[in-house]
Amino acid sequence: MTDISNIDAVQKMLGDQGYICGRALGTVVFLALRLGRPLFLEGEAGVGKTEIAKALAAGLGRRLIRLQCYEGLDASTAVYEWNFPAQMVAIRTAEAAGDASRDALQDELFSDKYLIERPLLQAMRPDEHGAPVLLIDELDRTDEPFEAFLLEALSDFQVTIPELGTIKAPEPPIVIVTSNRTREVHDALKRRCLYHWVDYPDFDREMEILTARAPQAAEALSREVVAFVQHLRTEDLFKKPGVAETIDWAKCLLALDVITLSPEVIADTLGAILKYQDDIARLHGTEAKRILDQARATLDAA
Ligand SMILES: Nc1ncnc2c1ncn2[C@@H]1O[C@H](COP(=O)(O)OP(=O)(O)OP(=O)(O)O)[C@@H](O)[C@H]1O
Ligand SMILES: [Mg+2]
Repeated sequence: MTDISNIDAVQKMLGDQGYICGRALGTVVFLALRLGRPLFLEGEAGVGKTEIAKALAAGLGRRLIRLQCYEGLDASTAVYEWNFPAQMVAIRTAEAAGDASRDALQDELFSDKYLIERPLLQAMRPDEHGAPVLLIDELDRTDEPFEAFLLEALSDFQVTIPELGTIKAPEPPIVIVTSNRTREVHDALKRRCLYHWVDYPDFDREMEILTARAPQAAEALSREVVAFVQHLRTEDLFKKPGVAETIDWAKCLLALDVITLSPEVIADTLGAILKYQDDIARLHGTEAKRILDQARATLDAA
């Protein structure tokens, strides 16, 4: 059994999976596990919200079930659907075979055999390894009716299928909900959950993450990369680079055998950290050099 009996143990369990987690996040994760409450994580893109569910599932040895949200996602896609084409084929076959098969089919048509389980239903099924981790990713992309539906599903962890009856989770799943905050998620749902704002990491933590995720990078280069990205985030950009971009950039620089940053190298590889042309255009000319100088000054001062 993985030790999750205190905050340090939880941080270590995540650390063993390559997920670097500060005290504040470690605390809410510990509490979510201890109290059996869903965890609601909000934050900018690429700061490690989705990754934490993966690390948690791997660390606990549980199955990860992911419900990726999008506009127009409805209950049937999230919970279950009947396999209509297969039912039709079965009906046709039974009809051809005569009365006896038709009667036999009546009972079978709405049984597990023709049920397609979607993430929410899957998460309520018993699992020999223990309750799964249910990741409800990017909830802000769905609409309010779905949110209301989810609120209900999360409060009693059961699903009613008219033809089959009610299916209740023997043990509630470990629920992680994420949002990029493109819209505000409803209070009622937030109230059910423990909340944490996942912020950009500070220099030391981002160094730790980079070392865990791109261990091949030399420390001197990693320090420059992190310092540069940290300064870049203070600029007025349309889309600030996340931790994912820091890691990508370091890997690109490694592939190019870069030993140290220069304005030219930065200009050539900006596409790894900035994904909007306006932001990239802003960094042309002397801007990249100015930020690089600032980053170096911070490193020298440290
Ligand atoms: N604390 C961390 N420890 C280790 N790796 C991290 C951490 N934070 C982020 N990462 C890395 O950054 C990548 C992006 O993280 P993730 O996909 O979880 O971001 P996100 O917050 O879900 O972003 P989005 O909102 O775009 O979905 C991960 O693949 C992981 O490698
Ligand atoms: Mg994500």
